[in-house]
Amino acid sequence: MPFYVTTPIYYVNAAPHLGHAYTTIAADVMARHHRQRAEEVFFLTGTDEHGEPVADAAHALGIEPQELADRNAERFRALAPRLGASNDFFIRTTDPQHEAVVQRVLGAVRDNGHVYEGTYEGWYCPRCADFKADNEIDEGNRCPIHHTELTREQEDNYFFRLSAFQEPLERLYEEHPGFVAPRSRYNEALSFIRSGLRDVPLTRHKLSWGVRVPWDEEHVFYVWFDALLNYYSALSYARPGTDLTDELWPASYHLIGKDILRFHAVYWPALLMAAGIELPEHVFVHGFLLMDGEKMSKSLGNVLDPFAVIERFGADALRFYLLREVPFGADGSVSTASFELRYESELANELGNLASRTIGMLSRYRDGGVSAGELDPVLGRDFEGLAETVRTHIDRAEMTLALDQIWQRVKRMNRYVEEQAPWVLAKDEARAGELDLVLRTLAEGLRAATVLLWPYMPVSCERLLAALGAPELSFAAAEFGAGAIRGVRALDSLFPKDLPPAGA
Ligand code: MSP
Repeated sequence: MPFYVTTPIYYVNAAPHLGHAYTTIAADVMARHHRQRAEEVFFLTGTDEHGEPVADAAHALGIEPQELADRNAERFRALAPRLGASNDFFIRTTDPQHEAVVQRVLGAVRDNGHVYEGTYEGWYCPRCADFKADNEIDEGNRCPIHHTELTREQEDNYFFRLSAFQEPLERLYEEHPGFVAPRSRYNEALSFIRSGLRDVPLTRHKLSWGVRVPWDEEHVFYVWFDALLNYYSALSYARPGTDLTDELWPASYHLIGKDILRFHAVYWPALLMAAGIELPEHVFVHGFLLMDGEKMSKSLGNVLDPFAVIERFGADALRFYLLREVPFGADGSVSTASFELRYESELANELGNLASRTIGMLSRYRDGGVSAGELDPVLGRDFEGLAETVRTHIDRAEMTLALDQIWQRVKRMNRYVEEQAPWVLAKDEARAGELDLVLRTLAEGLRAATVLLWPYMPVSCERLLAALGAPELSFAAAEFGAGAIRGVRALDSLFPKDLPPAGA
């Protein structure tokens, strides 16, 4: 089975921030893990370039939307490799091939009888590009996410008959309880559906920055329908000359933030049903990264610059921190202080130290050589079932739980070193066999844990595995006992503590 994972496509109204990096990193961990399992993997990310969020920001700067889109799309594109993200394609919704698919699919939705003309009247948040129902409005007619005043819209539009999909959606949720996770988000989406679905505008009349509606030149498609279709359109042109749709659709996982649940858990499956396209398997909804208790967001101005963090600590440390600090699926606070704490106590002291101790002792006591032989069952027992547990968690997009399982073994190995005290064994020639057993076992445990950690921290793990002389990354190699380390090489500090201060 191929594995196809996506991130939301990010608005290009401003530069990328840590919140965007977060989803991309999580998707990358899934993609890398599935590649370890030798599955065919496709990982998609990209930018959402139409609609008011971009048009308004461009006008405020006195430039054309296309110019703003070109400028910021490049920054998002450049962010992915700096995060270590191994995406297979980067889609922009201004790609002509994407626009053609939007016109074709939404034309089919109309041909299938799900589109009619009407007048929309209600509240609208231009920053969310979202029509807000009465029960979704904060006091003073404000957007609950952006805290800005909503605008009152009245517009002649073409409507998508969302209401016709109430029953099919209820059935979908009943038959596929794993369609949306975590469970709280599944419940939230289902109760939204059960509360009664209203038809939604499919097109905009007032706006010109969007994909032209083929049957009415005065309209553009509502940005959300254009944007959602990226997951489907990308497959048709990501590989020039090859259409990957039959091979890879439907998507295995859409990873999204909780702010865009309704679009992915309600509009998106309804739209696909209306177009006669197969539905994705899973939508996983993560929480917000908070700073000072508020969602980190460009429009609120409370953002951490991922480029600056990577500059100082490296992408691996950022990847580790975000997935360790904030349980994937829940909200969580991030801060420079907690970042530095985890960097020092976990990366430098726990993993970094374990690696340098293990390699250091093998160099000192055994000239870097590792003798063949059995492994200590005491540690072996603590590794039993680990790879399988990690796999099960990642299959459910539980990246923090999987990481915690691996990290418990990192800690366990540090305790093992203390318990066995190889420096004592080394003093007694008669205990040379015991010392060999301990060192061999440690090297093997470190190797197996590092293979499982690789999706989280690819650069550091590859360095460490190279030093252990065991570069094999396949999932089969993650079993304790699957590798045979014959010798180790010196390794420069994985997570140095003497970093330059911020801004230096
Ligand atoms: N363009 C739409 C999505 C279209 S998908 C078909 C959009 N873009 S966005 O740039 O505003 O944000 C998209 C995603 O970025 C969020 O859903 C989430 O995945 C991520 N995040 C943005 N800010 C975030 C936080 N503060 N915390 C966690 N994730 C955040 O909405």
